Amino acid sequence: MKVTIYGSGYVGLVTGACLAQVGNDVLCVDIDPAKIDMLNRGESPIYEPGLSEMMTANQSAGRLKFTLDPAEGVAHGLFQFIAVGTPPDEDGSADLQHVVAVADSIGQHLDDYRIVVNKSTVPVGTADRVRARIQETLDKRGSAVEFDVVSNPEFLKEGAAIDDFMRPDRIVIGTDNPRTTELLRALYTPFNRNHERILAMDIRSAELTKYAANSMLATKISFMNELSNIAELLGADIEKVRIGIGSDPRIGYQFIYPGAGYGGSCFPKDVRALERTALANGYKAELLHAVEAVNFRQKEKLFEKISAHYSGDLKGRTFALWGLSFKPNTDDMREASSRVLMEALWEKGARVRAFDPEAVDETARIYGQRDDLTLCKSPESALEGADALAVITEWNLFRSPDFERIRKTLKQPVIFDGRNLYDPGFLSKQGFTYYSIGRVPTTP
Ligand SMILES: NC(=O)c1ccc[n+]([C@@H]2O[C@H](COP(=O)([O-])OP(=O)(O)OC[C@H]3O[C@@H](n4cnc5c(N)ncnc54)[C@H](O)[C@@H]3O)[C@@H](O)[C@H]2O)c1
Repeated sequence: MKVTIYGSGYVGLVTGACLAQVGNDVLCVDIDPAKIDMLNRGESPIYEPGLSEMMTANQSAGRLKFTLDPAEGVAHGLFQFIAVGTPPDEDGSADLQHVVAVADSIGQHLDDYRIVVNKSTVPVGTADRVRARIQETLDKRGSAVEFDVVSNPEFLKEGAAIDDFMRPDRIVIGTDNPRTTELLRALYTPFNRNHERILAMDIRSAELTKYAANSMLATKISFMNELSNIAELLGADIEKVRIGIGSDPRIGYQFIYPGAGYGGSCFPKDVRALERTALANGYKAELLHAVEAVNFRQKEKLFEKISAHYSGDLKGRTFALWGLSFKPNTDDMREASSRVLMEALWEKGARVRAFDPEAVDETARIYGQRDDLTLCKSPESALEGADALAVITEWNLFRSPDFERIRKTLKQPVIFDGRNLYDPGFLSKQGFTYYSIGRVPTTP
């Protein structure tokens, strides 16, 4: 089948590569010339495990192509996927300018029946808006060509995106036309072999399902972080509590890890956008508001612990930072907790020596050259000349480090752990002062 995808970011590229991998003829359209150049050279502009290899194989086979030309895009695919960004507006609501721009260019070039499939995360009612925009442009052109608009939210996780797309938990299709469900069912057949994963529903419910999923996951994290703060005050160990509640199958173990807050391009913006949608419809979403407020505070937690340890005297100190991306296995730095920590340390006159397996280039792009930031090539080199170590992203590489080497390299043996990777008792025996989340600090 012929498929066009607008937006070659984390979602668009993965969708394009995976649809090409099962034999479809995919054309990806983006507005960023540098990105399209890179892609046409066979280079991936993002880090996502397995993506480069899949792109290369399908580009060589001629099933995956890239262009800047939206007219070519509209002419190419029966399916016109919209996978452009929907960043937060100033008031937190979703900024739909990119989605609308795609709708307008589809309207300008449409000459034959097409199914417009919205994969971007968009507020309820956006499919109606996209449909109206396209129709308006067609009316101006005096064209009577037919089209459908479908909501098909994406649930992939960065870091495991290829696997999530190839073996999805569910494929939500929101449509008011049963024929489009059947056409999309045909497109998704290779990903739907093991058991029925297609959940067909009305468009509005499909759009809300995506926000509901992300808000639920964010709520679990903020709930646990709230509990971790209470545990600290009470002298309880949040990791024991986590296991204590996770063993209840109604609660489960997933997504109840305490830590230094959630980041990324989805949870923060989607929780805020849903809160704004509710408010625009006259409903004050107290719980959603609290989820974001707790997270905001939690992102400052590690800095507060560092500041308290040094009695606020951080000027001239150097901190080794392990982990920059908002979570492991990605180079995505959007709303990463590491940024909150680094910026707070810089504000107080401290320096940072940071290491991340994939996000170093992105960090350099965001912050540029600055005297108080050294980007290091290994976890060990980040420790050199540092007063203490802070761990902010739980990459596997950081889970079992050489503690003796850490102790010998740091000026003082102090670790601030934003992801509870280590055993406090063990670290105490290794001679460290150890701070983590929701647990009493330990000393040698
Ligand atoms: N990243 C995730 O993990 C994830 C998961 C599920 C859903 N989503 C949603 O998917 C959407 C895309 O997210 P992303 O992380 O891939 O974004 P991204 O920022 O990585 O990529 C968006 C791309 O769209 C391009 N673009 C903007 N306007 C365009 C236009 N008019 N025509 C063609 N291309 C255009 C940009 O240049 C960019 O390359 C968002 O709505 C997001 O909420 C993201």
